[in-house]
Amino acid sequence: MELTRRPRRLRVNKAVRDLVHETDVHVNDLIYPIFVVEGENVKTEIPSMPGIFHYSLDQLEIHLKEVYETGVRAIIFFGVPDHKDEVGSGAYDDNGIVQKALRLTKSLYPDMLCIADICLCEYTSHGHCGLIKGDKILNDPTLELLAKAALSCAKAGADIVAPSDMMDGRIGRMREVLDENGMQDTLIMSYSVKYASAYYGPFRDAADSAPAFGDRRSYQMDWRNKKDALVETELDVMEGADILMVKPALAYLDMVKTIADEFPLPLCTYSVSGEYSMMKAAALQGWINEKAVVMESMTAMKRAGAKMIITYYALDVARWLKEEQ
Ligand code: PBG
Ligand code: ZN
Repeated sequence: MELTRRPRRLRVNKAVRDLVHETDVHVNDLIYPIFVVEGENVKTEIPSMPGIFHYSLDQLEIHLKEVYETGVRAIIFFGVPDHKDEVGSGAYDDNGIVQKALRLTKSLYPDMLCIADICLCEYTSHGHCGLIKGDKILNDPTLELLAKAALSCAKAGADIVAPSDMMDGRIGRMREVLDENGMQDTLIMSYSVKYASAYYGPFRDAADSAPAFGDRRSYQMDWRNKKDALVETELDVMEGADILMVKPALAYLDMVKTIADEFPLPLCTYSVSGEYSMMKAAALQGWINEKAVVMESMTAMKRAGAKMIITYYALDVARWLKEEQ
Protein backbone atom coordinates (compact mmCIF):
# COMPACT_ATOMS: atom_id res chain seq x y z
CA MET A 1 0.00 0.00 0.00
CA GLU A 2 1.31 3.46 -0.86
CA LEU A 3 0.72 5.74 2.11
CA THR A 4 2.71 8.99 2.25
CA ARG A 5 1.43 9.79 5.69
CA ARG A 6 1.83 7.05 8.23
CA PRO A 7 1.23 8.63 11.66
CA ARG A 8 2.22 5.34 13.23
CA ARG A 9 5.88 6.04 12.28
CA LEU A 10 5.94 8.53 15.18
CA ARG A 11 4.92 5.72 17.53
CA VAL A 12 7.14 3.01 16.12
CA ASN A 13 9.19 2.40 19.26
CA LYS A 14 9.82 3.86 22.70
CA ALA A 15 12.81 5.95 21.62
CA VAL A 16 10.81 7.71 18.92
CA ARG A 17 7.79 8.11 21.19
CA ASP A 18 9.95 9.61 23.92
CA LEU A 19 11.62 11.94 21.43
CA VAL A 20 8.39 13.39 20.06
CA HIS A 21 6.18 13.34 23.13
CA GLU A 22 4.81 16.74 24.13
CA THR A 23 3.67 16.68 27.72
CA ASP A 24 5.39 15.77 30.97
CA VAL A 25 4.50 15.82 34.60
CA HIS A 26 7.41 17.02 36.67
CA VAL A 27 7.87 16.88 40.43
CA ASN A 28 7.98 20.71 40.40
CA ASP A 29 4.39 20.75 39.17
CA LEU A 30 3.01 19.03 42.24
CA ILE A 31 1.36 20.58 45.27
CA TYR A 32 0.51 18.27 48.14
CA PRO A 33 -2.45 19.04 50.49
CA ILE A 34 -2.00 18.40 54.22
CA PHE A 35 -4.71 18.45 56.93
CA VAL A 36 -3.48 19.62 60.32
CA VAL A 37 -5.25 19.24 63.66
CA GLU A 38 -4.67 20.23 67.28
CA GLY A 39 -3.50 17.68 69.83
CA GLU A 40 -0.62 15.29 70.09
CA ASN A 41 0.20 12.02 68.47
CA VAL A 42 -2.74 12.25 66.07
CA LYS A 43 -2.41 10.52 62.73
CA THR A 44 -5.92 9.56 61.75
CA GLU A 45 -6.78 8.27 58.32
CA ILE A 46 -9.69 9.95 56.57
CA PRO A 47 -12.16 7.12 55.92
CA SER A 48 -13.21 8.30 52.45
CA MET A 49 -9.61 9.09 51.43
CA PRO A 50 -7.40 6.06 52.19
CA GLY A 51 -3.74 7.14 52.44
CA ILE A 52 -4.61 10.70 53.54
CA PHE A 53 -4.46 11.61 57.23
CA HIS A 54 -5.09 14.27 59.84
CA TYR A 55 -1.78 15.20 61.46
CA SER A 56 -1.10 16.85 64.78
CA LEU A 57 2.04 18.97 64.72
CA ASP A 58 4.36 16.30 66.16
CA GLN A 59 3.14 13.83 63.51
CA LEU A 60 3.34 16.52 60.85
CA GLU A 61 7.02 16.82 61.60
CA ILE A 62 7.50 13.13 60.81
CA HIS A 63 5.37 13.35 57.70
CA LEU A 64 7.19 16.43 56.40
CA LYS A 65 10.37 14.39 56.31
CA GLU A 66 8.64 11.86 54.03
CA VAL A 67 7.27 14.65 51.87
CA TYR A 68 10.68 16.25 51.59
CA GLU A 69 12.30 12.96 50.61
CA THR A 70 9.96 12.49 47.66
CA GLY A 71 11.23 15.77 46.22
CA VAL A 72 7.87 17.52 46.50
CA ARG A 73 8.57 21.12 47.49
CA ALA A 74 5.11 22.66 47.63
CA ILE A 75 2.38 21.94 50.15
CA ILE A 76 -1.01 23.47 50.89
CA PHE A 77 -2.33 23.42 54.43
CA PHE A 78 -5.91 22.92 55.56
CA GLY A 79 -6.73 23.38 59.22
CA VAL A 80 -9.27 21.39 61.18
CA PRO A 81 -9.61 23.34 64.44
CA ASP A 82 -10.95 22.12 67.78
CA HIS A 83 -13.02 25.21 68.19
CA LYS A 84 -15.55 26.54 65.69
CA ASP A 85 -17.69 29.65 66.04
CA GLU A 86 -20.09 31.87 64.10
CA VAL A 87 -17.31 34.11 62.78
CA GLY A 88 -14.61 31.52 62.07
CA SER A 89 -12.07 33.11 64.39
CA GLY A 90 -9.70 30.14 64.10
CA ALA A 91 -8.94 31.22 60.55
CA TYR A 92 -7.32 34.50 61.62
CA ASP A 93 -5.97 33.52 65.03
CA ASP A 94 -2.17 33.98 64.99
CA ASN A 95 -2.04 30.84 67.08
CA GLY A 96 -4.43 28.92 64.84
CA ILE A 97 -3.53 25.43 63.76
CA VAL A 98 -2.45 26.40 60.23
CA GLN A 99 -0.38 29.31 61.51
CA LYS A 100 1.43 26.94 63.87
CA ALA A 101 1.96 24.39 61.10
CA LEU A 102 3.41 27.12 58.87
CA ARG A 103 5.87 28.27 61.52
CA LEU A 104 6.95 24.70 62.23
CA THR A 105 7.38 23.82 58.56
CA LYS A 106 9.35 26.96 57.76
CA SER A 107 11.64 26.40 60.74
CA LEU A 108 12.43 22.83 59.62
CA TYR A 109 12.37 23.23 55.83
CA PRO A 110 12.85 26.85 54.80
CA ASP A 111 12.81 25.86 51.13
CA MET A 112 9.45 24.10 51.34
CA LEU A 113 6.97 26.34 49.54
CA CYS A 114 4.02 26.76 51.90
CA ILE A 115 0.56 27.64 50.70
CA ALA A 116 -2.27 28.47 53.09
CA ASP A 117 -5.80 27.79 51.92
CA ILE A 118 -7.78 30.82 53.04
CA CYS A 119 -11.44 30.24 53.87
CA LEU A 120 -13.79 30.32 56.81
CA CYS A 121 -15.73 27.08 56.31
CA GLU A 122 -13.41 24.87 58.35
CA TYR A 123 -13.68 27.37 61.22
CA THR A 124 -17.35 28.36 61.24
CA SER A 125 -19.94 26.52 63.32
CA HIS A 126 -22.37 26.75 60.37
CA GLY A 127 -19.80 25.50 57.83
CA HIS A 128 -20.29 28.29 55.31
CA CYS A 129 -17.37 30.09 53.68
CA GLY A 130 -18.54 33.51 54.88
CA LEU A 131 -20.39 35.31 57.64
CA ILE A 132 -24.09 34.61 57.72
CA LYS A 133 -27.20 36.60 58.49
CA GLY A 134 -30.26 34.36 58.62
CA ASP A 135 -29.82 32.13 55.62
CA LYS A 136 -27.78 34.68 53.64
CA ILE A 137 -24.02 34.45 53.17
CA LEU A 138 -22.72 38.01 53.49
CA ASN A 139 -20.11 39.16 51.00
CA ASP A 140 -18.47 42.43 52.04
CA PRO A 141 -18.08 41.85 55.81
CA THR A 142 -16.51 38.47 55.00
CA LEU A 143 -13.75 40.14 52.98
CA GLU A 144 -12.27 41.74 56.08
CA LEU A 145 -12.00 38.38 57.84
CA LEU A 146 -10.49 36.67 54.81
CA ALA A 147 -7.92 39.44 54.46
CA LYS A 148 -7.12 39.11 58.15
CA ALA A 149 -6.67 35.35 57.75
CA ALA A 150 -4.39 35.88 54.75
CA LEU A 151 -2.24 38.39 56.65
CA SER A 152 -2.04 36.13 59.69
CA CYS A 153 -0.90 33.18 57.54
CA ALA A 154 1.54 35.31 55.54
CA LYS A 155 3.12 36.51 58.78
CA ALA A 156 3.33 32.91 60.02
CA GLY A 157 5.39 32.04 56.94
CA ALA A 158 3.01 31.27 54.06
CA ASP A 159 4.71 32.03 50.75
CA ILE A 160 1.36 31.92 49.02
CA VAL A 161 -2.16 32.54 50.26
CA ALA A 162 -4.92 30.77 48.37
CA PRO A 163 -8.44 32.09 48.93
CA SER A 164 -11.03 29.38 48.21
CA ASP A 165 -14.15 31.15 49.47
CA MET A 166 -15.55 32.65 46.22
CA MET A 167 -16.66 35.96 47.75
CA ASP A 168 -16.58 38.89 45.31
CA GLY A 169 -13.66 41.28 45.72
CA ARG A 170 -11.58 39.07 48.02
CA ILE A 171 -8.41 39.22 45.93
CA GLY A 172 -8.37 43.01 45.84
CA ARG A 173 -9.04 43.41 49.53
CA MET A 174 -6.47 40.75 50.42
CA ARG A 175 -3.80 42.35 48.24
CA GLU A 176 -4.47 45.73 49.85
CA VAL A 177 -4.18 44.41 53.40
CA LEU A 178 -1.07 42.35 52.63
CA ASP A 179 0.62 45.36 51.01
CA GLU A 180 -0.35 47.76 53.80
CA ASN A 181 1.38 45.41 56.19
CA GLY A 182 4.61 45.01 54.29
CA MET A 183 3.80 41.62 52.77
CA GLN A 184 4.25 42.67 49.13
CA ASP A 185 6.13 39.46 48.35
CA THR A 186 3.37 37.11 49.45
CA LEU A 187 1.76 35.62 46.36
CA ILE A 188 -1.97 35.16 45.91
CA MET A 189 -3.11 31.99 44.22
CA SER A 190 -6.77 32.53 43.56
CA TYR A 191 -9.29 29.74 43.35
CA SER A 192 -10.61 31.75 40.39
CA VAL A 193 -12.83 29.18 38.76
CA LYS A 194 -14.31 27.11 41.53
CA TYR A 195 -17.47 25.20 40.80
CA ALA A 196 -20.12 24.15 43.34
CA SER A 197 -19.05 20.56 42.94
CA ALA A 198 -20.17 17.31 44.52
CA TYR A 199 -16.57 16.14 44.06
CA TYR A 200 -15.68 17.98 47.30
CA GLY A 201 -17.64 15.44 49.36
CA PRO A 202 -14.69 13.54 50.90
CA PHE A 203 -12.89 16.81 51.71
CA ARG A 204 -15.88 18.02 53.69
CA ASP A 205 -15.76 14.82 55.76
CA ALA A 206 -12.04 15.36 56.21
CA ALA A 207 -12.35 19.01 57.20
CA ASP A 208 -15.70 18.63 58.95
CA SER A 209 -16.81 21.61 56.87
CA ALA A 210 -20.12 20.61 55.27
CA PRO A 211 -22.58 23.52 55.49
CA ALA A 212 -25.10 23.06 58.31
CA PHE A 213 -27.90 24.47 56.13
CA GLY A 214 -28.34 25.03 52.40
CA ASP A 215 -25.41 24.61 50.05
CA ARG A 216 -22.64 26.67 48.47
CA ARG A 217 -24.43 27.48 45.23
CA SER A 218 -24.88 31.18 46.02
CA TYR A 219 -21.11 31.66 45.93
CA GLN A 220 -19.42 28.77 44.13
CA MET A 221 -20.02 28.57 40.39
CA ASP A 222 -22.81 26.77 38.54
CA TRP A 223 -21.27 23.88 36.61
CA ARG A 224 -23.68 24.33 33.77
CA ASN A 225 -21.82 27.53 32.86
CA LYS A 226 -18.55 28.60 31.34
CA LYS A 227 -18.94 32.35 30.68
CA ASP A 228 -18.89 33.02 34.40
CA ALA A 229 -15.37 31.64 34.51
CA LEU A 230 -14.08 34.42 32.25
CA VAL A 231 -15.66 37.10 34.43
CA GLU A 232 -14.33 35.57 37.66
CA THR A 233 -10.84 35.17 36.25
CA GLU A 234 -10.68 38.62 34.72
CA LEU A 235 -11.67 40.15 38.06
CA ASP A 236 -8.99 38.15 39.88
CA VAL A 237 -6.35 39.26 37.40
CA MET A 238 -7.39 42.92 37.75
CA GLU A 239 -7.46 42.63 41.53
CA GLY A 240 -3.91 41.32 41.64
CA ALA A 241 -3.93 37.51 41.65
CA ASP A 242 -0.53 36.01 40.76
CA ILE A 243 -1.64 32.45 40.04
CA LEU A 244 -5.04 31.28 38.80
CA MET A 245 -6.87 28.05 39.47
CA VAL A 246 -9.55 25.83 37.99
CA LYS A 247 -11.22 23.40 40.36
CA PRO A 248 -12.12 20.51 40.15
CA ALA A 249 -9.76 19.21 37.47
CA LEU A 250 -10.80 16.10 35.57
CA ALA A 251 -14.39 16.98 34.79
CA TYR A 252 -13.34 20.57 34.01
CA LEU A 253 -10.44 20.21 31.57
CA ASP A 254 -12.34 22.34 29.07
CA MET A 255 -12.14 25.15 31.62
CA VAL A 256 -8.47 24.47 32.25
CA LYS A 257 -7.83 24.89 28.54
CA THR A 258 -9.99 28.01 28.26
CA ILE A 259 -8.34 29.79 31.19
CA ALA A 260 -4.84 28.69 30.10
CA ASP A 261 -5.47 30.04 26.59
CA GLU A 262 -7.17 33.28 27.60
CA PHE A 263 -5.07 34.53 30.52
CA PRO A 264 -1.31 35.14 30.65
CA LEU A 265 -0.80 33.97 34.23
CA PRO A 266 0.34 30.58 35.58
CA LEU A 267 -2.55 28.20 36.03
CA CYS A 268 -3.07 25.62 38.74
CA THR A 269 -5.72 22.92 38.68
CA TYR A 270 -6.96 21.19 41.81
CA SER A 271 -7.61 17.49 41.44
CA VAL A 272 -10.03 17.39 44.33
CA SER A 273 -10.87 14.88 47.02
CA GLY A 274 -13.63 13.13 45.06
CA GLU A 275 -11.26 12.54 42.16
CA TYR A 276 -8.73 11.01 44.52
CA SER A 277 -11.35 8.87 46.25
CA MET A 278 -12.74 7.50 42.99
CA MET A 279 -9.34 6.49 41.67
CA LYS A 280 -8.23 5.15 45.05
CA ALA A 281 -11.42 3.10 45.55
CA ALA A 282 -11.16 1.49 42.13
CA ALA A 283 -7.45 0.83 42.71
CA LEU A 284 -8.11 -0.83 46.07
CA GLN A 285 -10.65 -3.09 44.36
CA GLY A 286 -8.04 -4.06 41.82
CA TRP A 287 -10.24 -2.67 39.07
CA ILE A 288 -7.74 -0.20 37.62
CA ASN A 289 -3.96 0.06 37.41
CA GLU A 290 -3.55 2.89 39.89
CA LYS A 291 -0.20 4.22 38.73
CA ALA A 292 -1.18 4.13 35.05
CA VAL A 293 -4.56 5.80 35.60
CA VAL A 294 -3.16 8.48 37.91
CA MET A 295 -0.23 9.33 35.61
CA GLU A 296 -2.55 9.47 32.60
CA SER A 297 -4.92 11.79 34.50
CA MET A 298 -2.13 14.10 35.70
CA THR A 299 -0.67 14.30 32.20
CA ALA A 300 -4.12 15.16 30.82
CA MET A 301 -4.32 18.10 33.25
CA LYS A 302 -0.94 19.33 32.04
CA ARG A 303 -1.90 18.77 28.39
CA ALA A 304 -5.05 20.84 28.91
CA GLY A 305 -2.84 23.72 30.03
CA ALA A 306 -2.31 23.53 33.78
CA LYS A 307 1.20 24.44 34.88
CA MET A 308 0.72 22.93 38.34
CA ILE A 309 -1.57 20.45 40.04
CA ILE A 310 -2.80 20.20 43.59
CA THR A 311 -3.28 16.49 44.18
CA TYR A 312 -3.56 14.07 47.09
CA TYR A 313 -1.52 11.75 44.87
CA ALA A 314 1.47 14.13 44.84
CA LEU A 315 3.78 11.91 46.89
CA ASP A 316 2.96 8.80 44.85
CA VAL A 317 3.42 10.66 41.59
CA ALA A 318 6.78 12.00 42.77
CA ARG A 319 7.90 8.47 43.69
CA TRP A 320 6.65 7.01 40.41
CA LEU A 321 8.52 9.70 38.48
CA LYS A 322 11.72 8.77 40.32
CA GLU A 323 11.24 5.07 39.47
CA GLU A 324 11.09 5.93 35.78
CA GLN A 325 14.50 7.61 35.85
C1 PBG B 1 -12.68 25.31 51.39
C2 PBG B 1 -12.18 24.32 50.41
C3 PBG B 1 -12.83 23.21 49.89
C4 PBG B 1 -11.91 22.54 49.08
C5 PBG B 1 -10.74 23.29 49.11
N1 PBG B 1 -10.93 24.39 49.93
C6 PBG B 1 -14.19 22.67 50.14
C7 PBG B 1 -15.38 23.40 49.71
O1 PBG B 1 -15.32 24.43 49.06
O2 PBG B 1 -16.45 22.92 50.09
C8 PBG B 1 -12.15 21.26 48.35
C9 PBG B 1 -10.95 20.41 48.15
C10 PBG B 1 -11.22 18.99 47.82
O3 PBG B 1 -12.35 18.52 47.64
O4 PBG B 1 -10.21 18.27 47.75
N2 PBG B 1 -13.52 26.28 50.84
ZN1 ZN C 1 -14.81 27.40 52.30
